[in-house]
Amino acid sequence: MTTTEERRTVPAATERAFPPGFVWGTATASYQIEGAVAEDGRTPSIWDTFSHTPGRVVAGDTGDVADDHYHRFREDIALMQRLGLASYRFSVAWPRITPQVTADALGPVNEAGLAFYSTLVDELLAAGIEPAVTLYHWDLPQALEDAGGWTARSTAERFAEYAEVVAAALGDRVRTFITLNEPWCSAYLGYASGVHAPGRTEPAAALTAVHHLNLAHGLGAAAVRRAAPGARVALTLNLAWVRTDGTRAADADAVRRVDGLQNRVFLDPVLRGSYPADVQADTAEVTDWSFVREGDLALIHQPLDVLGVNYYSPTVVRAWDGSGPRAENDGHGASAHSPWVGSERVVEFPELPGEKTAMGWSVDPRGMTELLLRIHREHPGLELLVTENGAAYDDVVVAGQVHDVERTRYLRDHLAAVLDAVEAGAPVRGYYLWSFLDNFEWGYGFSKRFGVVHVDYATQERTVKDSALWYASVVSRNAVPAVAG
Ligand code: FCB
Repeated sequence: MTTTEERRTVPAATERAFPPGFVWGTATASYQIEGAVAEDGRTPSIWDTFSHTPGRVVAGDTGDVADDHYHRFREDIALMQRLGLASYRFSVAWPRITPQVTADALGPVNEAGLAFYSTLVDELLAAGIEPAVTLYHWDLPQALEDAGGWTARSTAERFAEYAEVVAAALGDRVRTFITLNEPWCSAYLGYASGVHAPGRTEPAAALTAVHHLNLAHGLGAAAVRRAAPGARVALTLNLAWVRTDGTRAADADAVRRVDGLQNRVFLDPVLRGSYPADVQADTAEVTDWSFVREGDLALIHQPLDVLGVNYYSPTVVRAWDGSGPRAENDGHGASAHSPWVGSERVVEFPELPGEKTAMGWSVDPRGMTELLLRIHREHPGLELLVTENGAAYDDVVVAGQVHDVERTRYLRDHLAAVLDAVEAGAPVRGYYLWSFLDNFEWGYGFSKRFGVVHVDYATQERTVKDSALWYASVVSRNAVPAVAG
C-alpha cells in the first residue's frame, strides 16, 4: 500500500501531476451561505435590501437563511475535512464587523461578529484546512449605500479601516487576504445594468464605482499590510478571455473595448499605476474621469502578492452596427440597461453553439489556459491563484446521491486547462472550486446550484455530490486523470 505522500509524488501513468505544494480548496461567500442576517448585531447589507425588493431575485429568494452556515459551520468544516480539502476561501460580512458604519466613521467594532470569523478560522486550522479570507464579496453595509455606495470616495476609505480591523484580528492565523471579489460585478452589475445590488442603472456611477473599488483595493492592501505584515495580499478579478468570431476591423475593436472595460481597467491601475487611455476615450461621453484625484493611482498601485483569477466561461463579441436586434448573450443577466458602459451601442454578444451550463454559460476550458498565460505574459513573476471556477447544473438527489456527471467533466477539463498553463510556465499556486455548497446565487436565488455538496433548503441536509468525491481524489493524488473525452 502506498502512503498519501507517495501517491502525491508518484502519479500513475494515466495521471497528470500538479506541482508539489499546489493548494486545493473550495470557495464560498458570506451572503450566499451564512443566513443569520439579524444575529449577533449584524445590520443589513445592500443584498438584504435588494433581495427583499420584489422582482429583483428569482422567486423572491433571499439570503435570510441560505445554508444556515452561521450555525452549521462546524458540520461544514467536518465535511471539508472528510473530503481532504486543504484550503477554504470564505468572505467576511462587513455588516457583522462594523454594523454602525457611516460615510464619516467606521463606528465601533462588533466583537460578536469578529468572534464568529475568529472561531471559524480556529476550527479550520484545527481541521488542517488553510483559511483564505475575502474581505469584500459584495455585502456592502446598506448605510454606506445610502450615502452613495461605491460612487462615494468615503466608501473606499471606510473599507480600508474595516480591512485593517479584520486583518488585525485574524492576521495571526490567516496567511491570505483578498481585498475584493470581482469589482467588475460590483461596479457594472450594481450600478449600470442593475441586476446586482444596489440595482442602480447609471453608467457614470458605474465608472465612478470602478475607480473607488480600485482605490478601496489599494487602500485596503496597505491597511492589511499594516495590521498583518506577514500576510499575502491578493485581489480577485473576473477577467475575461475575449475573442470575436467576426472578421471586420470593427470586430477587433469590439474585443479591445470589452477587454478594456473588463480586464485592463482593473489590471492596469493595480499592476501598472495607470488607467488605459483607450478606455477613458471610449467612455469620454459618459464621464470626464474627474473622480480620479491626484495621487490616487499611486495609492492603487500597491505591491500585489498574488492575483486571484475567476474563470467560468468565454466571452465572444462582435461589432454591432445598429441593424437588427442586438445579441446580448454576455452571461450577465437580462436588463434593459447594458453593463458595457460607453460601448452599449457598438458591441454585441452572439449566442455560441455548443455545450452550456445551467446558467446558459458556454463551456470552453481553453479560456482558462489562455487567460492564465496572458496574465503571465503581461505581468511575468506575478503569482496566480484560481480563486473560482465551477459550474451550475440541475442536480437531482436520488437515494442519497447526486450523479453530477456534467459538473465532474467540467471540473476535469478546467483543471487540465489550469495544468496546461502551469506546464507552459504560469505560476499558478492553487485552485478554489466554486462552490463548496449549493447557495444563494445572487439574482438567480436558489435556482442555480454550483455546489459540489447539495443543500436541501427545506431541511438543510447536505449531500455530497459525485463531483465532490471526484475532486477529493484529485486533491489526495495532486493530479488529474490524463484521459480526455
Ligand atoms: C462569481 C461570484 C460568485 C458566484 C459565481 C457563480 O461571479 O464571485 O459569488 O456567484 O460567480
